[in-house]
Amino acid sequence: MSKILVTGGCGYIGSHTIVDLVDHGFEVISADNLSRGFGEMNDKVSKLLGKSIHNYAVDLSDAAATRTIFEANPDIEGIIHFAAYKSVPESVDAPLMYYKNNIGSLINILECAKEFGVKNVVFSSSCSVYGNADTLPVTETAPLKEAESPYAATKQMGEQICADFVKGNPGFKIVLLRYFNPVGAHESTLIGEMNQRPENLVPIVTQTAIGIRSGMTVFGDDYDTRDGSCVRDYIHVMDIAHAHTLALQKSIENALPSGCEVFNLGTGEGVTVLELIKAFESVSGLKLNYNIGPRRAGDVIKVYADNTKAKTLLGWQPGYDITTMMQTAWNWQQALAKETAQ
Ligand code: WQD
Repeated sequence: MSKILVTGGCGYIGSHTIVDLVDHGFEVISADNLSRGFGEMNDKVSKLLGKSIHNYAVDLSDAAATRTIFEANPDIEGIIHFAAYKSVPESVDAPLMYYKNNIGSLINILECAKEFGVKNVVFSSSCSVYGNADTLPVTETAPLKEAESPYAATKQMGEQICADFVKGNPGFKIVLLRYFNPVGAHESTLIGEMNQRPENLVPIVTQTAIGIRSGMTVFGDDYDTRDGSCVRDYIHVMDIAHAHTLALQKSIENALPSGCEVFNLGTGEGVTVLELIKAFESVSGLKLNYNIGPRRAGDVIKVYADNTKAKTLLGWQPGYDITTMMQTAWNWQQALAKETAQ
């Protein structure tokens, strides 16, 4: 059974990916210093899987500490590297913290991969590398625009570091996965997106619906789109998770065309903010309390994926539509509320 190190394993996408990896026969260990991840997420994943997943609470920007994980686990066959800060506004306020953490931990992980001969790596990237793409749907060959934030810059730099690492280390393979907008939660409602003060849309919608927030603002309805609000490609977190499992399997089988392949992970469908809210209202049976406010600085107007490459080369097929995404997000928020009430 191949052992996989998942960094950021106590985070939103990391925890869901651990579930999918174990469901597909991998042995998994996690590394997460819990600066952004939640320890209870690890407990919940272990409960969901009926087996404990060991988490190394290690700061991966500390090279020596990172090394201890590999010394203790010489049989690691692959790495999925999620661990990174990901708040766009926070990165604008604290760019050095973002470069030190996101780039520093990637470099430490790759140095250990090289030293310990771990030849299969998956890097968590983002559609934010595209910025405002000129043509839609956006393909992996689209030119990368100037990063809109230090966060997006760390993803662009991270991809370049991975590509250069592979060029200088034949035999090593790194798959770059560019997520569009991950939403929703595992159907068990045992795991989901944990964020007390979210900045992204869906948890703000569900926190408004459950009453944690009194209302929310739609940032602009005067864009050149179907209904004036921004368009995004929302993709269920379990679809994203399974893409990582497939990417690792293909990498281990040496079944990909080159040592560094990049894939878009999106449904290929653009959905506006107002359409998402309507889908949520139909699923929850609630009228959401929102107002239309000014545009948010830095917002991309429209972005959605061409996912042909992931479908053909990874055999990936996203299975959740926007209604189900909203249903699982709402179920998760209600489960959280019940837990807090206990
Ligand atoms: C989506 C749409 C907002 C909140 C995300 C992540 C970012 C990065 C890239 C990973 C936009 C609108 C939002 C609100 C709103 N992730 N909105 N009212 O901007 O696509 O960025 O993907 O790499 O970390 O956040 O996602 O959810 O912030 O916004 O109207 O209260 O919802 O204007 O149009 P975004 P988002």
